[in-house]
Amino acid sequence: MIIAVDGPVAAGKGTLARRLAAHYGLAYLDTGALYRAVGLALLDAGRSADDSAAALAAARALDPARLDDPRLREERVGEAASRVAAMQPVRDALLEFQRDVAARPPGAVLDGRDIATVVCPDAEVKLFVTASAEARARRRHAELTARGETADLDEVLADLQRRDARDQARDAAPLRPAADASLLDTTNLDIEAAFRAALSLTEGAC
Ligand code: C5P
Repeated sequence: MIIAVDGPVAAGKGTLARRLAAHYGLAYLDTGALYRAVGLALLDAGRSADDSAAALAAARALDPARLDDPRLREERVGEAASRVAAMQPVRDALLEFQRDVAARPPGAVLDGRDIATVVCPDAEVKLFVTASAEARARRRHAELTARGETADLDEVLADLQRRDARDQARDAAPLRPAADASLLDTTNLDIEAAFRAALSLTEGAC
């Protein structure tokens, strides 16, 4: 079984996808980490996140064993990720790895922006998870503060809106729900309620 979980920044996709994977005994892939790893490679090399040749080389050289580097979660890395993610050759270079993970039995839960539309258009379950920009900014702000990073709520909101706008407006696999996706708005749901809602949408789709 393949479950696609797409949505904008900080909508709760990762938490839901991880819990769905544990519940159904499936593998889990955070596809945003792939784009973040490309972005981080450029930052580490002192290159611009708009350097398309360097981004493509980094995507081709990506080592999936290094996807748990805690630096991937930094805000500057999310911003760089969203810039390299707008480059079609970078997306193409990362596609096969994602499809390989999905194809391995018994299946997987993948979260990202284009899982249902591009990576796994035949996924049995397609969830599009969203929440108001303000709710998402509050959650991201709490996450950053809990990690000991200093963050300004208004800046977090502005960053998130800028990244969403770029992800939605790009030509290459823009962020949008697949026509047959189930929408899940988590604005007024805590994690437990959101998980129960995701489970019932999943059961309904299988
Ligand atoms: O989900 P996360 O915030 O970690 O993703 C970082 C960036 O990677 C996103 O802003 C988006 O531009 C890009 N991304 C993408 N397609 C995916 C996953 C992430 O374009 N499937």
